[in-house]
Formats: sequence, C-alpha cells, structure tokens
Amino acid sequence: MQCTRKVTDSIYWVGGNDRRLALFENIFPIPRGVSYNSYVILDEKTALMDTADFSISRQFMENVAYALGGRDLDYMVIDHMEPDHCANIQMLKEKYPNVKIVGNAKTFQMIGQFYDLDLADEDKVVVKEGDTLELGSHTLTFVMAPMVHWPEAMVSYEVSEKILFSADAFGSFGALDGRIFNDEIHFERDWMDDARRYYTNIVGKYGAQVQMLLKKASALDIRMICPLHGPIWRSDLNVLLTKYDQWSKYEAEEKGVLIIYGSMYGNTEGVAGALSVKLADAGVKEMAVYDVSKTHMSELIAEAFRYSHIVLACPTYNGGIYPPMDALLHDMKALNMSNKVFAVIENGTWAPASGRLMTAVLETLKGCSVLDTKVTVKSTLKPDKEAELDALCQAITASL
Ligand code: FEO
Repeated sequence: MQCTRKVTDSIYWVGGNDRRLALFENIFPIPRGVSYNSYVILDEKTALMDTADFSISRQFMENVAYALGGRDLDYMVIDHMEPDHCANIQMLKEKYPNVKIVGNAKTFQMIGQFYDLDLADEDKVVVKEGDTLELGSHTLTFVMAPMVHWPEAMVSYEVSEKILFSADAFGSFGALDGRIFNDEIHFERDWMDDARRYYTNIVGKYGAQVQMLLKKASALDIRMICPLHGPIWRSDLNVLLTKYDQWSKYEAEEKGVLIIYGSMYGNTEGVAGALSVKLADAGVKEMAVYDVSKTHMSELIAEAFRYSHIVLACPTYNGGIYPPMDALLHDMKALNMSNKVFAVIENGTWAPASGRLMTAVLETLKGCSVLDTKVTVKSTLKPDKEAELDALCQAITASL
C-alpha cells in the first residue's frame, strides 16, 4: 500500500517515518520519531532524490513504485551518503537496473565503501559544483555543501519549480503525521524545539559551512525547500532561514540566562535555585534551569545555543569536574559553541576546583567569556555566601 503525497503536479514525496527508533544515530532521543524524506520527479526522465533509512525500506520501495506508475527510474540523485538516506541504493539498483546514479566524486567513493556495487561508467553521472541535469522541463543544478553534514553532501536546485532539495540542511527530528508541509502544521509551537535540537546536535559543529551554503542559497530563487527530515517548506521560508542564520553564526536567540547544574545531594542544586530567584527578582524574564544529570545532552546543547548567558554549577569530583558536567563541556567544545557569556559556581567539601577547571575549558571556546565573579561553596550554601551570590547576580544582569 503506497503512502505518498504530491509536492507539486510532477513531484511526489515518497519518504516514510520511523516511530520505533528510540535514539537517532543511537545517541539522540526522538520521542516524536523521525521522517526520512525522499522525492520522485516525473518528467521525460524520472529522478529519485535520495533514498531512505533501511528501517522504512518496504514502505519506501512501494512509494517509489507508486509514484513512478509503472515507469522506469532513470536517475537516482544521491545528495547525502549517511545511511539514514542511502540505505536503499543497492535495492533500487537491483529493481531498476537501468538507473544512473548521480553524485559527486566523494559520493561514489563512499558508495564503494558502503556497498559492493559494481558500477560501470555508464551507471554513473559524476557531477561537480554548478553542473546540471536535464530531465525534460525540469533541470537540476548541483550545489556542493561539504560538511553539511558530511564531506560529500550536496544540495540540488530544481530550476523550473524553484525547489531546493536541501539534504540534511533545514531538517528536523519528528515524524510527519500525514501533514508534510510547514503550512499544515504549527511549526513554531510543535516543531521548532526539535528543529533546533536537530540542527545544533547534528550540524551545529559546522556553522561556517552552513553559512557558506546559506550564501550560495541566497543567490537562488527558492520557492520551496525539501529537506531529508521533517516538514517541507513552501511558505514563510524566512522563518527557517533566519533561524539557520542565527544558529550557524552561534548567535543567541534569547538574551537570557540558562542555568545548568550538577548536584549529588541537592546542595549545588540549592545554590542554582538561589541564584535563579535572585535573577528573577532582578527582572530576568528569559531563564531556564536544568539538571545536567537528568536532562539529555542534546536538549542542553539546544538550549545552550538558544541563550546568551550560561551559568554552570557543579561539585568537584575526583579532584575534577563532576562527570556529567564534564561530558557537557566536551560536547560544547566538539560542537564549536561560541559567543556566550558564562559564569561558574563550584562546590567542594574539602578542595573545590570545578570552577577553575570549568573556566579553563570555557575560555578555549571561540568568542566566549567567563565572568570573573565566581561563587565557591563548601558543601552547603550558608548565609555568608549571600553577598557572593548577589555579586554574581549583579554581574550577570549587568552583562545582559
Ligand atoms: Fe540525515 Fe547526515 O543524515
């Protein structure tokens, strides 16, 4: 049974959803599932824009066959070789042996690594920046997008209908519930958090490369964006483009304070709580508090991208940084977290050191600063620390 939708008169969405998978890339929780989008273009020649994950192969193959309506598949364009999109190349080549695979030099190198496909020269169309492929009235132009999110990644722009097939760019976690277009859903309300979590964790490291892609995209007249995950954008494109611009420049969306604490027995949590009420009393409206041990790293990273100011509070553990906080710092560095104002609170019963150690890591982050006003607590928050906490609150509000 097919499960497709028309994107335009001559283009079908032939993707599918996985709501069983708990962890995307076996790392990121996806309680709302994930979609793997793929598209069929019907013209004098037929083309498939990427394939899908192995988990939805049966549905995907039925969808492709339905969209083709008995026709042969002429081209299979591979914009991205990560297995959540390329898993069906071999199956498609076996079912449609005349199909020509379209990709760049790196694409074919990766096809060789993932598959034992014996492709003859006539099976391949090797493209580079600016090359075009005529399908009839439709023309695909290929734009290289290295490291968005792998080195072989490219996007394909269809000239006649002004559609950007954007690969991983502009995607989101979340399964599609039949509504595949952004104007059929409440994106801001229901999808933005997952779009941010997807971007920051999957592509967040590659802000400079996303900026390059945005620059190339700005030269194109784009009416619709068809990503490989999440909703298709056919209106208000600026909503997403603006977010991508902010995220890839590591520009905060909120001038506000994110407090992330680690706490073994509730004492450091108490310090974070005391700071939060002082900040609220001081008029800070945009604020959030998270427990580093209980909140998935991907949510903390997304929130860290969102806020301008970040307070990290944790105990000293084995003479070092409390391990869950250490892991968060590692992830922040790996994802090129930039342009933040940090503050630190340390706790330690006999030799508090986590503040100094966290500061040393934070100072290596590009464009980030750490407020001098550090609060040191020995075991529990005592009244004599009130002045230090007030000073930290004042330093944060002054820099907001
Ligand atoms: Fe959705 Fe980089 O793959």
